[in-house]
Amino acid sequence: MPNSFLSYLAYRMIEIQNIRKQFGERVILHDISAVMEAGKCNLIIGTSGSGKTVLTKCMVGLFEPDEGAILYDGADMITMENDDRKLLRQQIGMLFQGTALFDSMTVEQNVLFPLDMFTNWTSAEKKKRVDEVLARVNLVDANKRFPSEISGGMKKRVGIARAIVLNPKYLFCDEPNSGLDPQTSLVIDKLIQEITQEFNITTIVVTHDMNSVMEIGDHIVYLHQGHKQWEGSKQDIIFSKDELLNKFIFASEFLQDAKQMRMMEANGSHLKK
Ligand SMILES: Nc1ncnc2c1ncn2[C@@H]1O[C@H](COP(=O)(O)OP(=O)(O)O)[C@@H](O)[C@H]1O
Ligand SMILES: [Mg+2]
Repeated sequence: MPNSFLSYLAYRMIEIQNIRKQFGERVILHDISAVMEAGKCNLIIGTSGSGKTVLTKCMVGLFEPDEGAILYDGADMITMENDDRKLLRQQIGMLFQGTALFDSMTVEQNVLFPLDMFTNWTSAEKKKRVDEVLARVNLVDANKRFPSEISGGMKKRVGIARAIVLNPKYLFCDEPNSGLDPQTSLVIDKLIQEITQEFNITTIVVTHDMNSVMEIGDHIVYLHQGHKQWEGSKQDIIFSKDELLNKFIFASEFLQDAKQMRMMEANGSHLKK
């Protein structure tokens, strides 16, 4: 295979290999390997405390794993030169758990912040880009408002705008729906999905929200007590026999019945063929 084809395959892909992380004596992540597919919404799911946030922090370089490699386009973030790592970090957008907006700054100033930090654009250029991304997340006429003056859903939008303002190749969203009602959650999920497709970003969404899984889960990695228990697509979930996964996704009896019916339907249509 020609090299150019191989590098095309790795383009914007993230591969984690045998990640192990412990705090003191406690092992939090056990030998986790997975691939985050380019240009898709990759979900990391699991119950609270299963290691989702620690894993994503390892992936963006906020924690250093005790063992393993984190390959971006085939290059290991952990062992690369500091300058390369700095450049890579600028290609990663992050929406933190709880949005982490600066309360003393307006919406506009929050989104401007990464541009001030990492570009030497003129004020006019920066202003144009800020307006562009705020419009993209459907926030108009909110520039001068403070985080305390806007709704939870709007705050998430500001967080997303700030995360994409530097035009990242990779986008990490840790629990983007925490604290939102189901309808607003759906709108935020859709927005993340649209942005991923529109800008061909490799997106990683951490969630324990089963609606998100079914709505935007192109590729899903399920963690259980720090182990990778299962990996697949949302279609695979319907047919999965993994008991832990099923208990997590189809937590209620109602959903278990729904899964059962969906499987019977699918088997029926298979027999008719
Ligand atoms: N900085 C830290 N020091 C020690 N233990 C931590 C630290 N961060 C997370 N943990 C522990 O790691 C485990 C996984 O946490 P986390 O990744 O936050 O779970 P979640 O899946 O809910 O995001 C938890 O038991 C948590 O207490
Ligand atoms: Mg978490």
